[in-house]
Amino acid sequence: MSNKINVLAISGSARSASFNTALLFAASELTETGIDIEIYDGVSQLPIFSQELEGVNRPREVIELDEAIRRADAVLISTPEYNGSLPGGLKNFLDWGSRPYADGAFVGKPTAVIGASTGQYGGARAVQATAEILRHMGSNVLSGHLTVGTAQSKFNSAGVLRDEMTKKSLVEIVNRLRELSEVGVDTGIKVRS
Ligand code: FNR
Repeated sequence: MSNKINVLAISGSARSASFNTALLFAASELTETGIDIEIYDGVSQLPIFSQELEGVNRPREVIELDEAIRRADAVLISTPEYNGSLPGGLKNFLDWGSRPYADGAFVGKPTAVIGASTGQYGGARAVQATAEILRHMGSNVLSGHLTVGTAQSKFNSAGVLRDEMTKKSLVEIVNRLRELSEVGVDTGIKVRS
């Protein structure tokens, strides 16, 4: 049996009834995986990134975020797709996470990107774009992703994941992230639900 790992989960949506946030809550309730998930909900509270706010001027919420990422064994991001890409708030979060250059909290950090959307393809372009940015930042990004299309049919009105296929895919992706974190193995699956 492998050790438990601590995963920091980040939703790219600021919406209270977000399917992406609900997907992360579903991941945190999985009993089949050896992970503890902490959900970070401060993406929409971060100031817009500016180089003038770096170094000694770094805002308190950015310092706390940086510490949370560095503490985590791995990071799980779930993103909506806005206009064919990731939401601006998530990009702002990633810009903060990329600093200081070459020594940011994401350098070498095992990361997985998943996404949910009301569209047919589950926000695949946003997931792809987010993974690409993370690779640019030096993160160790899982090559497998999970995209949940027509999300409105897979969660109940209380935001609880009801779709068994999606649950199975979520277990798979989280286990892959755990393996990546523990032994650096990336089996490279692509899951669509
Ligand atoms: C969307 N949506 C959307 N969906 C998609 O699959 N591709 C897209 O390009 C877009 N573009 C888009 C732009 C804007 C401004 C909004 C508000 C929405 C729909 C989107 O996937 C849907 O609203 C999700 O439910 C958003 O995710 P959360 O908030 O439920 O996590």
